[in-house]
Amino acid sequence: EETQSFYDAVGGEETFRRLVHRFYEGVVEDPLLWPLYPQEDLAGAEERLRLFLIQYWGGPGTYSQQRGHPRLRMRHNPFVIGGAERDAWLKHMRDAVDSLGLPAELDKRLWDYLVYAAHSMVNAPDA
Ligand code: HEM
Repeated sequence: EETQSFYDAVGGEETFRRLVHRFYEGVVEDPLLWPLYPQEDLAGAEERLRLFLIQYWGGPGTYSQQRGHPRLRMRHNPFVIGGAERDAWLKHMRDAVDSLGLPAELDKRLWDYLVYAAHSMVNAPDA
């Protein structure tokens, strides 16, 4: 129904926990992406992405309580993100979204956002 947040509709915290955990299982195996990530703080990285997505989709605002305004493009400035990095990121995210088995309509809404957000995070031209 109209008043239910997307966060609730997809199953709340547990769903985002599964999504982000599965995503990072792919990232740690990825020779292009893994070197960009904080090798010694995988749990922290997982928590930051999980809390951000929870907040974005209408769940608790813990992300901003801990991290302030998201400013995601600025926070990604230290990392060189070209088309290859974006596509690798989206490949692991697609796999993670698939693992949730959401109804098609919810899957599409989540996926369309992730594709849009990933494209907006590109900060380096392709070589
Ligand atoms: C952080 C890479 C796209 C959300 C990070 C970090 C890396 C990274 C290396 C640092 C990990 C950490 O310490 O937290 C990338 C790459 C992307 C991408 C290669 C490819 C396009 C996205 C997208 C979103 C996102 C599309 C949102 C939908 C975040 C968040 C953080 C983060 C919330 C933590 C920010 C903070 O509070 O410090 N990303 N990212 N990223 N990323 Fe991405």
